Parts: sequence; C-alpha cells; structure tokens
Amino acid sequence: MAKLLVDGGRPLRGTVRISGRKNSAVAVMPAALLPQGTSRLENLPRITDVEVFLSILRQMGAEAAWREDGSIEVNAERLYRLPVSFELTRRLRASYYLLGALLARQGRAEVALPGGCDLGPRPIDQHLKGFRALGAEVSLQRGTVKVQARQLRGARIYFDVVSVGATINVLLAATAAEGTTVLENAAREPHVVDLANYLNACGAHIRGAGTDVIKVQGGHPLRAAAHAIIPDEIEAATFMTAAAAAGGDVTLENVIPTHLEPVSAKLKEAGALVLENGDSVRVISTERPLPLQLKTMPYPGFPTDAMPPMTALLSIASGTSLVSEGVWENRFAHVNELRKMGARIRVEGRTAVIEGVDALQAAPVEARDLRAAAALMVAGCIAEGQTEIFGVEHLDRGYEGTEEKLRALGVRVQRLREE
Ligand code: EPU
Repeated sequence: MAKLLVDGGRPLRGTVRISGRKNSAVAVMPAALLPQGTSRLENLPRITDVEVFLSILRQMGAEAAWREDGSIEVNAERLYRLPVSFELTRRLRASYYLLGALLARQGRAEVALPGGCDLGPRPIDQHLKGFRALGAEVSLQRGTVKVQARQLRGARIYFDVVSVGATINVLLAATAAEGTTVLENAAREPHVVDLANYLNACGAHIRGAGTDVIKVQGGHPLRAAAHAIIPDEIEAATFMTAAAAAGGDVTLENVIPTHLEPVSAKLKEAGALVLENGDSVRVISTERPLPLQLKTMPYPGFPTDAMPPMTALLSIASGTSLVSEGVWENRFAHVNELRKMGARIRVEGRTAVIEGVDALQAAPVEARDLRAAAALMVAGCIAEGQTEIFGVEHLDRGYEGTEEKLRALGVRVQRLREE
C-alpha cells in the first residue's frame, strides 16, 4: 500500500507522453487468444490491470511476456482447459472478456464474476443475451458464469443498453459464429474500433465498428498480427483537466485529438485554450475556470471516466456547475474527499451541484476507485500545500508512471509506503 504526496498550487508546465489505452489493452489481450501464431501488441501501458491480464494469460498456458521495446508477445496455441483462478479474475472487470474470447476459441468458458471499481450495480445481462443469441448455453452458479456451444451461429442482436463491455464480449464470440452477426445499438467507443482493427488484421471480417451497427462475418481462420494500442484518452483528459485547473501550459504527445473532442470542448467552455497539432494537444490556462453544465454519456458524449477529474476542476470555478452522471448509478465516491479539501459539492441523485470556491486546501484524502484517485491527483495539483493521497493502488491500475509525468510538468510529488 502506498500514498502520494503532491505539492500543489503552482501552474503546470511541460510535456507528457500519453500511454496506451487501458480499456483497449484489456480487450485486445484476451482477443490475442484467438489467432494462430504470435501477436505483437505495442503501446500497452505498464499498469496493474495489464500486468494482471498478462498473469491470467500465462496461467491459462499462453506464452505472454514483455519485450525490451515495451511490446508484449502473445502466443496462445496451447491452452489448458482449467477455469481461470478467481484470485486473478476478481482483480479486474475486463476478465469477463475471457467469456467471449474462449467461447470463440474453444466453444466453452468458465469465469468467476469480475471485480473492478464499485460504481453501483454492474449487470452483465446484455453480454449473456448476446451469447445466448449466438447459440450458447449460459448458466450462472455460485458467482461463476459458464458458457458453452457446440457451434456458434450468427444472429441479429439488439442491445437494450449501450454497453462497451457487452459490445466487446459479443464481438469476440461472433468472430467464430457461422454466418453473419449484426450487433445493433452497439457502443461506439474508440476502443471497440481498436479491437475490431486488431481482429481484422488477424483476418476477421468486422465492419461498422465505431457506429452503432457492427456486422461480423464469422468463422474465418485468424492468424496473429502486430497491433499498436491507441492512446489513452482518459489519461490525456486527466492531464488536460489538471492543466486547465492548476493553470499553465501543457503539451500532451501521442494522442488522437478527435477522441478528445468531448473533453476539449468542455475545457474550452471552461475558458482554457486547447490547441491541436497532429498527434499532440496543448492546453493553456491563465484564468480561473468558468462553471459548466455537463452530462456524461456513451461515446461521443462526455466520458464518465473523465468526470471525476472534471469535478475537481469545477470545484474552483467562478460559479455553480451541474454535473450529471448518465452511465453509472454511483460515481461520486471522490466528492466526500474533495469536500475535505474545501470543495462545496452537493450530490442529489445522479447530479452533483458544485459551488466553486476560491481555492482548495491540501488535506489527507483517500481514493476508493480508479477515477476517484485521478480526481484527487488533479485536486492535489490545484491545492496550496501538500495533499496526501491514500489508496494509490487504485491509480496504479490505470495510470502509467504518474510521478514521472507529474514531475515533467513541474509538480513535486513523492510516493511513500503506507505504514
Ligand atoms: N449495463 C447493463 N447490462 C449489461 C452491461 C452494462 O445494464 O449487460 C449498464 C451498466 O450498468 C452501465 C451501462 O450499461 O449503467 C454502461 O456499462 P458498460 O457495459 O458500457 O461499462 P463496462 O464495459 O463495464 C467500461 C469501462 C469503464 C467505463 C464504461 C463506460 C472497461 C474495462 N471498463 O465498463 O471504465 O466507465 O465502459 O464507458 O472497459 C474506468 O476505466 O475507470 C472504467 C470504469
């Protein structure tokens, strides 16, 4: 267990390279179980979620290891037929992608219900509906999901809610289904497109990823391919928000600016200058942020994962902001901690009413989930004095090299082991 000490209250200046996207990495890694041969996955972030997934792949019998150049090679030609240990799967939500991947690969899978951040109920009914529509038998016993099918068959599947996880899981399974699968009301997130690009590079026939209708011609043999994971737009959004909140001039390299548009638009509305240049984005901020009205939604709406850091920014805005959470039932775990730093925030149902204060004060605070940790990191950059952030293991699940990156922006930061 570790804590971070962040000395805030000064503008951020410098350049940071954004890492590969966590939520894409944890979808492409299980997909690498499907093709014959060795896939090389580049631009994977060195974060706990990726390390845990690597351990899961190895425990299943796959060869999977980091190379010196920072890529990972995965060869899954030989796999054991054992259920994956709950010790590992419980540590990350995305372990449920093994259901879709193994169903495609070997016609059966058994995975304990996943962990991940506590954001309220996280049902997987849409995943199971998709598997059933493809002809799989699905059962749920003592917290473990079992799926099996002698032959998956293409189907038309309408998702009742827009779900990133269900879209990815059913897409994985559909690559092995005979005939055509059509996913309707599919998630449009860039990491769905990234996964489809990797699978297509392996020989799959997936069209329409990035729109709400995805068509898969299943049953094509897949051969391993090299693939570079797209940049993490939530990590980028976190640093952009920190720069806009604390003031300064920050350049982020290795980003895809179009993926950042929902966040850039809101930061501009809050008064920051956001300049795009090829694969970099620069955020300049000299004034106190303006208040905003914001609602999180599936892509291309404002991403729920970027909302907690934005709440930290709005806590020092020059007026009252309204932030509505449109994806998760309970995503305001960071609010109590921000209050300890002087923020005036009231949560009414799924809306936070944020009355901007002149400044935040450093305080000991505790992160209870990944993006709450990111919010506290941003708050630490804003606040005068030294903010002590406990629960840093949550941050490590999704952010690579946080201290080095903050230091590159002139922030004094130390990691200490908790006593
Ligand atoms: N939902 C259902 N039934 C389902 C699946 C989802 O009702 O079968 C509901 C959920 O309860 C939620 C909404 O649909 O209200 C959206 O859930 P979704 O399935 O899209 O979320 P997820 O796949 O579990 C991923 C990310 C989350 C991110 C959401 C939304 C991964 C591993 N996780 O979760 O990321 O918040 O999409 O964009 O990709 C994070 O990185 O901090 C994080 C929590």
